[in-house]
Amino acid sequence: MKEIRVAPIRNGTVIDHITAGQALNVLKILGVNEHSIDSTISVVIKVPSQKGMKWKDVVKLEDRELDPETVDKIALIAPNATIVIIRDYYVAEKYKVKLADKIVGLARCSNPHCITNMGEPVAPEFNVVSRDPLKLRCAYCDRKLTNISDNLL
Ligand SMILES: Nc1ncnc2c1ncn2[C@@H]1O[C@H](COP(=O)(O)OP(=O)(O)OP(=O)(O)O)[C@@H](O)[C@H]1O
Ligand SMILES: [Mg+2]
Ligand SMILES: [Zn+2]
Repeated sequence: MKEIRVAPIRNGTVIDHITAGQALNVLKILGVNEHSIDSTISVVIKVPSQKGMKWKDVVKLEDRELDPETVDKIALIAPNATIVIIRDYYVAEKYKVKLADKIVGLARCSNPHCITNMGEPVAPEFNVVSRDPLKLRCAYCDRKLTNISDNLL
């Protein structure tokens, strides 16, 4: 028997297999705040996962689909997340988030003297140094980005 923790949604998006503990950062990426909520959002934190990782978080969004930039940001804090599009209660599409080799315009460099923080028209850019655990290095000043979720744009 499938365990049901939240009511099924008719249309919307399930963000599944989120790294346990990252659901609140996913909500931050989605721009969820008291003024922006216009449909039901279900958040499940630390439930058992059958897939490799022992625990996961899940976020279910009714009547909402995600743009590619949002999905790319989610990949930065939840590299194993799955995006599931629900239409008429069924899984219509499912894909894994994917981390590019270069992260452009998604996070700011933590070095205040970096060219990307000087008001110049230079988009912040990071090279992926390691994927597991994720390590990013600024393409301009070489500074390691230590707290990715706090520096998301
Ligand atoms: N109508 C729905 N409303 C809410 N959540 C749904 C709905 N349909 C599927 N889901 C959720 O979407 C995710 C993917 O559904 P699927 O049926 O593919 O599960 P699965 O076989 O466990 O997939 P996976 O192998 O990716 O974990 C699951 O977390 C499931 O609970
Ligand atoms: Mg599953
Ligand atoms: Zn920099």
